[in-house]
Amino acid sequence: MSPKTYYIHTFGCQSNKSDSERIAGDYQARGYQSAKDWQTCDELVINTCAIRKSAEDRARAFLHKVATTARAAGRPKPKIIFTGCMLHHGKNKILEILSMVDEVLPVNEVGFNSPVVRKDKKHAWIPISAGCNSFCTYCIVPYSRGREQSRSFEEILAEVKILAESGYEEITLLGQNVNSWGLEKVGISLRKMLMERPDLELNHLPDNQSQYLKPKGTPPFVRLLRAVSAFPQIKLVRFMSSNPWDFHDELIAEIVANKKIDRYVHLPIQSGSNSVLKRMNRGYTRERYAEVVAKLRAGDPNVVIGTDIIVGFPGETEAEFQETLEFAQKMDWKVAFIAIYSPRPGTASWRLFSDDLPHTVKKHRWEILDQLINKNNLKAGNRPKVI
Ligand code: 5AD
Ligand code: SF4
Repeated sequence: MSPKTYYIHTFGCQSNKSDSERIAGDYQARGYQSAKDWQTCDELVINTCAIRKSAEDRARAFLHKVATTARAAGRPKPKIIFTGCMLHHGKNKILEILSMVDEVLPVNEVGFNSPVVRKDKKHAWIPISAGCNSFCTYCIVPYSRGREQSRSFEEILAEVKILAESGYEEITLLGQNVNSWGLEKVGISLRKMLMERPDLELNHLPDNQSQYLKPKGTPPFVRLLRAVSAFPQIKLVRFMSSNPWDFHDELIAEIVANKKIDRYVHLPIQSGSNSVLKRMNRGYTRERYAEVVAKLRAGDPNVVIGTDIIVGFPGETEAEFQETLEFAQKMDWKVAFIAIYSPRPGTASWRLFSDDLPHTVKKHRWEILDQLINKNNLKAGNRPKVI
């Protein structure tokens, strides 16, 4: 009997792509072979994204396509395993609503240390943490991926060592907020944690970021960057994502000094308006963001910054949007991933605010920002009037 085959269809971000590499590793370890496409596999894993409603719609459409294709070809459909961020709906609800789904694989069951199947032979994704504790009001991730959990230093280093010794030269350290790696205090009592970790102390960060402990000396993430950069075979180190609230000066200094670290730094702003940032529960101001960017650029003029922005957040006034536009001109981002706000069921912004801006206004704001930042042809004084 020939071995059973699997295929993994991945939607969404790098974390999902990285998870899929580990799910593939698990299949191979169980003796499955990779199928060349989803039409012919025995088992199909759909690794879903839920960051916006449109992402969920795409997964549903794909599911539908799989079922109709199999029917048209007169074949039984593959066994369908659903995983990824759409699991925020809950296992039972998914099995109930999406009747084609046979099984649900919780995201946190994809272990950090499962065997990995990588297609790329030079660059590798390495998860350093899972989940998120930040609860930005618009975001589904803390619900879909659960509480933040840092992977141990030893495990990360062991993976990097194997990669370095097998010819890999580039790595990307992955986490929802890599800066806070090793600083989360959830899942363990605060007293116990402080006793076990003399390198940490209580933090006094604003709002939603107070759950992280503060490093007394060098932040753990900086120590990690140094350790992974110390492998002579590793030539380029990237990390994703960082957030402004714990972008410590030591991290800035490390990026400036350590030229193995990519000169492109991705630093989401989400909005250039302090009042919107407050409603988003982001825990920083545009001034603090600008300070981090100024320090990075002063340290090394070759540093290039990219960002994420959400337009049309509930109640975003014309004046607030203008603040984002004006800030974009100052920041001179190389690239911005601009998203139209999508209310996600269960999140704070979905509960507290109504999605009150017409789609036409959101789309118009998206276009203007995209033109300004990504097409770079609407510099100051040359902007269309915002409707
Ligand atoms: N609506 C629109 N965009 C969102 N993002 C996260 N949640 C939402 C949402 N509900 C964007 C943010 C984040 C990126 C990964 O997706 O900009 O940085
Ligand atoms: Fe979502 Fe905020 Fe966590 Fe990023 S930091 S994953 S935007 S809750």
